[in-house]
Amino acid sequence: THSPDKPALHILLAAPRGFCAGVDRAIQIVEVALQKFGAPVYVRHEIVHNRFVVESLERKGAVFVKELDEVPDDRPVVFSAHGVPKAIPAEAQRRNMIYVDATCPLVSKVHREAERHHESGLRIVLIGHAGHPEVVGTMGQLPPGSVVLVETAEDAERLNPEDPHNLAFVTQTTLSVDDTAGIVEVLRRRFPDIAGPKKEDICYATTNRQGAVKAIAGRADAILVVGAPNSSNSVRLVEVAKVQGCTRAMLVQRAEQIDWSLLEGVATLGITAGASAPEVLVEEVIDALRGRYHVTIEEVVTATEAVTFKLPKVLAAD
Ligand code: F3S
Repeated sequence: THSPDKPALHILLAAPRGFCAGVDRAIQIVEVALQKFGAPVYVRHEIVHNRFVVESLERKGAVFVKELDEVPDDRPVVFSAHGVPKAIPAEAQRRNMIYVDATCPLVSKVHREAERHHESGLRIVLIGHAGHPEVVGTMGQLPPGSVVLVETAEDAERLNPEDPHNLAFVTQTTLSVDDTAGIVEVLRRRFPDIAGPKKEDICYATTNRQGAVKAIAGRADAILVVGAPNSSNSVRLVEVAKVQGCTRAMLVQRAEQIDWSLLEGVATLGITAGASAPEVLVEEVIDALRGRYHVTIEEVVTATEAVTFKLPKVLAAD
């Protein structure tokens, strides 16, 4: 109901936002594994980078661990959506464990690309963020020392490969589209023979979410990105909004985290969510805003998505 004492707030809701097909599949994998094998089902690393998702799965019987050696031999284990070094499934196999790989098929595609280039004798340049589990997983597809990591255009300028004519590049799937284009440009200028994808390996979901936040950034006084600080694609959404001129762009995990002082004087607020943030958290944020403002909502749609991925065969009904 309209309360005259509340200030007006116009919300621009970016679309697409939130869950991608790879995250959706990874969560479903844990749920179906719990149905098929019963609890506990172990999950190595956060299945996707979101505490809310992890805690809901814990309540259903999932047990999250850092390393495979924390999992008993006789319980099933799921590997996270970000991908894992080859040594991990190999170890699970050696221990005769049941394992389910929830690696996003778009990450697996990059793994196969890197392998193919390596087999044809090329040295791999991986564009990505040091320490991110996807980067650890992609590097771990090949023998140690066969991949060199490049994080910035400056890194690309400094790269000094032994054989500049035998290079290929692959990328993390959740990078900034614009920053990555700059890095690829440096690599192609310095190493004209470098093999690689047409543009990069950034996935459709990352690309679309960045496109959507760009479309609202110019009109919004501030932007809230629902997502976790360890979620690469969520953090990129904040950066993209800022580069587009919306300097009051910030990450929030839950409604309770909103710093209301930062929204002072805001009449138009953009909202989006990273690929691992469930829509209920976007709704929670909007509900909190309704408590303080007279809210109107405009959804700004820049793309529609129809991507879905099949579940691994090991989860098929007996
Ligand atoms: Fe896959 Fe992209 Fe999501 S790589 S897990 S579809 S963010």
